[in-house]
Amino acid sequence: MVGGNVGVKNFSPIQLPDGFIRTTQQLSSSYYLLPITYYLLPITYYLLPITHCLFDFTRIVGKLDSKVAVITGSTRGIGKAIAEAYVNEGAKVVITSRNREHVEKTLSDFPQGSAIGQVCDVSDYSDVEKLVETTVGAFGVLDLFINNAGITDTFYNITDSDPEEWGHIIDINLKGTYHGTRAALHYHLKTGHPLKIINMAGSGTDKKSNTPFISAYGSTKAAMARFTFAVAEEYREYPVSIMLLHPGLVRTDMTRAVQPTPEMKRQQETFETICDIFSQPPSVAAALAVKMASDNGGTKNGDYLSALDQKRRKWLLFTYPFRKLFNKIDRRSW
Ligand SMILES: NC(=O)c1ccc[n+]([C@@H]2O[C@H](COP(=O)([O-])OP(=O)(O)OC[C@H]3O[C@@H](n4cnc5c(N)ncnc54)[C@H](OP(=O)(O)O)[C@@H]3O)[C@@H](O)[C@H]2O)c1
Repeated sequence: MVGGNVGVKNFSPIQLPDGFIRTTQQLSSSYYLLPITYYLLPITYYLLPITHCLFDFTRIVGKLDSKVAVITGSTRGIGKAIAEAYVNEGAKVVITSRNREHVEKTLSDFPQGSAIGQVCDVSDYSDVEKLVETTVGAFGVLDLFINNAGITDTFYNITDSDPEEWGHIIDINLKGTYHGTRAALHYHLKTGHPLKIINMAGSGTDKKSNTPFISAYGSTKAAMARFTFAVAEEYREYPVSIMLLHPGLVRTDMTRAVQPTPEMKRQQETFETICDIFSQPPSVAAALAVKMASDNGGTKNGDYLSALDQKRRKWLLFTYPFRKLFNKIDRRSW
């Protein structure tokens, strides 16, 4: 029989088993696949290097490409680590602290063209205003303002504390953050350019964290949370994100006393053990600072991220005996 809808079965003079017929049907469909593969292979061959280049390109571009960031107190410790991480992700940064020598020395560690330096004491509002002006003058915009600069008390109980020193800590940590936030927001209101501000949490921020002997520091870090969330709410209708970052415990100049007070000497051993268990390199906090600064980092206005959250805390506590046993306690200072 010719014409019509002819099944394979009709061509066969012999009655073949069902399984065999299905196999020949599959073979005939793979017959059409062959030319497709024939044309697809060379296309894939030529496309591969292009996709490879694209993949490489996304790596070259970085998460913060063309962003401009001011990081206060970035001549050492956590601030410097954040500046380095930002530059690695393609950002331009402003290295800044109270001390010209520190600024110049730190600047020399950065690749040419990736950073500028500016002396700025964050406790002085006119200094911070100048910092924003210089940044915009040099790079054209300001995308990120990281209020990182901070100092701590030198382990005194309140009766032994010096009222001036106590107030100075408030001026740098809390008022300094207020100054940075205010100056950066003024820039945003003038230009409409989207802006992210990251403030530094610390001991005292979380409800359960008590701070005996460093009461000024603890008070500023507790206030930091209230301040950050209040400003986040005030500017929630704007293309602005104000967030809080807890860098965890990092061995830096801040955690090491140049001239330990008697109280500090008494606390030293306990504190060293706490550091042995919970301290981490500043790169952990810096990676979070990159996530918070990046457009695709998944963070939003009013967020609070910690480099020492419950999960991380449990992990460090669990691994401590093993790290101790195998001499793997990291005692480097940054
Ligand atoms: N280390 C920790 O375990 C830890 C834990 C929680 C939170 N934090 C927070 O993280 C931030 C950085 O701490 P860190 O441990 O990296 O401290 P750090 O090593 O002592 O560095 C502090 C930085 O702030 C600068 N600075 C101090 N006073 C300043 C001022 N008035 N104006 C401008 N810059 C000033 C210092 O530079 P100059 O001396 O050259 O001015 C330095 O660059 C602080 O806000 C701190 O509270 C730290």
